[in-house]
Amino acid sequence: MSPEPTAAGGPGDGPILVVDFGAQYAQLIARRVREAHVYSEIVPHTASAAELVARRPSGIILSGGPKSVNETPAPMIDPAVYDTGIPIMGICYGAQLLTRQLGGEVSRTGRGEYGRTPLTVTGNSPLFVDWPGGGEVWMSHGDAITSVPEGFVATATSPDAPVAALHHPERAIYGVQFHPEVIHTERGRDLLERFLYDICRCLPSWTHTSIIESQVEAVRAQVGTSPVLCALSGGVDSAVAAALVHKAIGDQLTCVYVDTGLMRAHESEQVEETFRRQFHIDLVHVKASDRFFEALAGVTDPESKRMIIGELFIRIFEEVARDLVIQQSEPGDDGSAAGPASHDRPSGYLVQGTLYPDVIESGSDSAATIKSHHNVGGLPDDLAFDLVEPLRLLFKDEVRAVGEELGLPHDIVWRQPFPGPGLAVRIVGEVTPERADILRAADAIVVEEIRRAGLYRDLWQSFAVLPAVRTVGVMGDGRTYAYPVVIRAVTSDDAMTADWARLPYDLLERLSSRIINEVEGVNRVALDITSKPPGTIEWE
Ligand code: XMP
Repeated sequence: MSPEPTAAGGPGDGPILVVDFGAQYAQLIARRVREAHVYSEIVPHTASAAELVARRPSGIILSGGPKSVNETPAPMIDPAVYDTGIPIMGICYGAQLLTRQLGGEVSRTGRGEYGRTPLTVTGNSPLFVDWPGGGEVWMSHGDAITSVPEGFVATATSPDAPVAALHHPERAIYGVQFHPEVIHTERGRDLLERFLYDICRCLPSWTHTSIIESQVEAVRAQVGTSPVLCALSGGVDSAVAAALVHKAIGDQLTCVYVDTGLMRAHESEQVEETFRRQFHIDLVHVKASDRFFEALAGVTDPESKRMIIGELFIRIFEEVARDLVIQQSEPGDDGSAAGPASHDRPSGYLVQGTLYPDVIESGSDSAATIKSHHNVGGLPDDLAFDLVEPLRLLFKDEVRAVGEELGLPHDIVWRQPFPGPGLAVRIVGEVTPERADILRAADAIVVEEIRRAGLYRDLWQSFAVLPAVRTVGVMGDGRTYAYPVVIRAVTSDDAMTADWARLPYDLLERLSSRIINEVEGVNRVALDITSKPPGTIEWE
């Protein structure tokens, strides 16, 4: 499943391979490498040295990981990699692993280090040219390197890591116990750049312009003159993917936007405005809310709702796709066919906004399915489309930067993530048009006030949830019996974990009074103060 190293390649410009030893460490390292304009890819630790060499990397970084190298079994790397001559840097677990595999010692000293730690540089190292004497670093380790392998020198120390950095002067093998990828490590970025530019001789050629250029070429080469369809959801990924593909092939692209009735306020207008009027993209706007509400009537089980919405979406999309592809492949005046469709099965290409983290996660066997949507794909096999995935190599921050560069409005590019099944997973119990309207109105107030408070971009997500209970209240002279609305606002880096946001009291007060005053059917506002885990971000 791993992507081809298309965008980089050639002497001095091969990728940096980040070897994954578990948890999320590898992704952050890979993102930091790309921020230094060097293309990086994540590879499993089970890859053989020959497989790694075959990707012609400029360097290899062994990531951190949650295990101890002294556990059995501990995740290892093929030791032949150390003899390839490719520059290697181990970080945290990676440093301990190379120490252990090359004959040094890693012990449980009884005193780990967690968090900010002072580092003293004790020897010359090309990694530390920007660190006169030392600095503050971020540590997270229980074990420590207690003796370096033969031929290695220790170049830094910290209170509880006798060897906080080491390298082999002739073999371009480096290790650091701390985490240079974490922002709390002062000059961590400088250290990574020294490794990339000075040791691996990488060129800083991975830029947003180069990403766009290479993907435009790749899309053209892939689809030729065939028709291409793209399902727009209103979210960032499908929007950027559509804009990118449109730049590559113009009118060959048709976008399909299915209004399920479960979208956020003004979303449909914005999609129309941006894609039809600003980008002049051929847009098919399917107004299908009646069909969705009909299918959802009486359904309360969260997974059933997701399945119903997913399946109906596919059915509608298929209907549109069949019509379109058949139309586009009707013979022209000159008798030529515009596309390779047969009349009973649509064929052609389908754009998907798959991102790099989805690619890595769906390729790993350890990711458990918590909710059915988190799997990539979801289209039935008999839909004869080939996928075009122009964002397949990119992290979310890169997608946003590419979106900006392509001229998409800020509002779309910086939009918080929104689940595929839409408001339905925020409406506990039955999804009816009335309940969707209540939630949409409350949600619009949450978004508006969060934006006004300047917090929209700092929060991973902020939205309203509609529970399936009603509570008693009193408004004016009368007793009310209406729904509460729950405010859910979280901070997160990647949605794998999240913390509830500490929203200012005055903002909460405005939210509460506006929602109760302006949204009919709501008489109470509550705040969700659950982190993930144990809660998920969405309520269903
Ligand atoms: P949970 O609720 O599992 O969500 O903590 C993690 C992230 O995934 C988003 N999410 C979805 N995204 N289709 C999507 O494309 C979905 O069905 C879906 N459900 C949840 C959620 O908004 C959060 O960012």
